[in-house]
Amino acid sequence: MRVGILISGFGSNMMKLIESCENKDSKASIELVFSNNPDAEGLKYAKSKGIKIVSIDHNSYENRIEFDNQVNKVLLDHDIEFICNAGFMRIHSDDFVNKWFNKHLNVHPSLLPSFKGLNTHKKAIEAGVKFAGCTVHMVRSGVDEGPIIGQAVTSVNQSDNEKLLAAKVLELEHRLYPVCLHLFAEDLIKVNLDKINYKEEAIKKLEDFKI
Ligand code: GAR
Repeated sequence: MRVGILISGFGSNMMKLIESCENKDSKASIELVFSNNPDAEGLKYAKSKGIKIVSIDHNSYENRIEFDNQVNKVLLDHDIEFICNAGFMRIHSDDFVNKWFNKHLNVHPSLLPSFKGLNTHKKAIEAGVKFAGCTVHMVRSGVDEGPIIGQAVTSVNQSDNEKLLAAKVLELEHRLYPVCLHLFAEDLIKVNLDKINYKEEAIKKLEDFKI
């Protein structure tokens, strides 16, 4: 499965996805890293791994639809079959979402449907939740919405601040995201509209994240 990763910044999730595809048995292959931010730190890492990188500044486009059309063209030019948002901080147009329907994952640093959007950890601490975590989900039109593929949980302690919580959750993202990507590459999961069918082996692979 030819995978494209979309990033906007540091790209630590991207790094973990790339690493997870380095195994010779991997059925997923990262063929492209795209960024809307030409200065995204993650682009350097991808390049050092010999992966094709493309960056197009969204500011040079009149509107979201024109930018997304260009992103879509880049993906198709590289024969990408599946995309993973990894800290890609742009909202997609409905048309783009429909083009990649069920072939497009996102990772979000909260237990969705709680705390969508920005400042997730601040919101979680202010709400006084006792558990936090991350979610990997299919991309749909609403921000951080879509069928949930996997979640991983950590506890929130009295001494946690935003930074500490972000670090704990990021570690979970790094473990969960590759597992979820490979479920698709290995055909262990089927998504219809909102219904997800996990094969036995998929359930086993997600077992580590059970509490
Ligand atoms: C990650 O925590 C990711 O979940 C979050 O941005 C961070 C990117 O870190 N994404 C979102 O908030 C999207 N709604 P990374 O660039 O080191 O992977």
